[in-house]
Amino acid sequence: MPNLMDLIKTKAKADKKRIVLPESADERTVRAAKIIASEGLANVVLLGNEKELKAKYKDIDFSKILVINPETSDKYKSYCELLYALRKDKGMTIDDAKSLTKNPLYFGCLMLKSNDADGMVAGAVNTTGDVLRPALQIVKTAPGIKTCSSCFVMVMPDNSPGKKYGQDGILIFADCAVIPNPTAEQLADIAVSSAKTAKDLAGIIEPKVAMLSFSSNGSAKDPLVDKVKDAVNMLTERKVDFLFDGEMQADTAIVESVSKSKFPASKIQGKANVLVFPDLQAGNIGYKLVQRLSGADAIGPILQGLNKPVNDLSRGCSVEDIVNVVAMTSVIA
Ligand code: ACO
Repeated sequence: MPNLMDLIKTKAKADKKRIVLPESADERTVRAAKIIASEGLANVVLLGNEKELKAKYKDIDFSKILVINPETSDKYKSYCELLYALRKDKGMTIDDAKSLTKNPLYFGCLMLKSNDADGMVAGAVNTTGDVLRPALQIVKTAPGIKTCSSCFVMVMPDNSPGKKYGQDGILIFADCAVIPNPTAEQLADIAVSSAKTAKDLAGIIEPKVAMLSFSSNGSAKDPLVDKVKDAVNMLTERKVDFLFDGEMQADTAIVESVSKSKFPASKIQGKANVLVFPDLQAGNIGYKLVQRLSGADAIGPILQGLNKPVNDLSRGCSVEDIVNVVAMTSVIA
């Protein structure tokens, strides 16, 4: 059976999107661009100085890679005006806009906003916050969605104990990268977006969402538990079209026998394939521990809820990681 990443790459090739890579000063990014172009995974755009890139990478054929220099681009002026129009009510001056438009992270988001590109991937050298801020300010959330969040697709190794959990060892963990201390409403939003990503990207046929806590079905009382309960009640009120339940501990979420004893009436019966963590400390620590201790692949963070996909890389990423995230971004776009 082809693995999940192979399926995503096949989908990306079938409907090629234009994906911007703003970090051309990073060698891994340029090498990834070459692979993406030669494998036909996306129409790739590098932001940088074409002459300098060609001089530095004599072994790379740039004929299939569009290189745009934000400072000399014929779009620079209109993007400045667009940025100023979008942010002037927030105190941005035209001089701020002129300077920020030269920043490739802002220029890339302005390309998305202007329909000059379909998605952006960055974060090989910039922090998550620096990648997210222009995306939130310029690309913004999709109509009807208030919250941008993130998830990881966790793929358990073959022949490992983890393979029996989730859908054939595939689980979604959220939010592991964006919202430090979500409100109950934001937790409900994270559940909705994650169920959608589970279906659209990870091939999870029937998302079963567990709203995680240190309490299972009222076993502990604390304002932190109440927040998760409130999120569950909001999902009930919203009449969402996927199975969910909570609040529950992680073992109640994924182990049928534990669910039977701790939460016998649970709608997901210990068969969760989407885990919504109560805050970013839990989510970020949780995914990294599972990744390191079990050898699982952690694909992401995949940003959810934006008008167009912008995805963040880890600064420790490899060339292959960048290629994979670009393929995913293309499929989401
Ligand atoms: N969803 C939707 N909109 C949002 C969100 C969100 N989650 N967060 C902020 N915004 C909006 C704000 O309302 C604001 O809108 P406006 O200016 O148009 O009114 C705009 O985005 C910018 O908000 P700021 O307040 O300037 O940005 P902030 O300082 O809150 O930063 C950020 C947002 C970058 C997402 C911040 O919450 C953050 O740093 N999160 C943690 C990132 C991180 O370090 N993750 C861990 C590492 S990742 C890893 O390990 C894989």
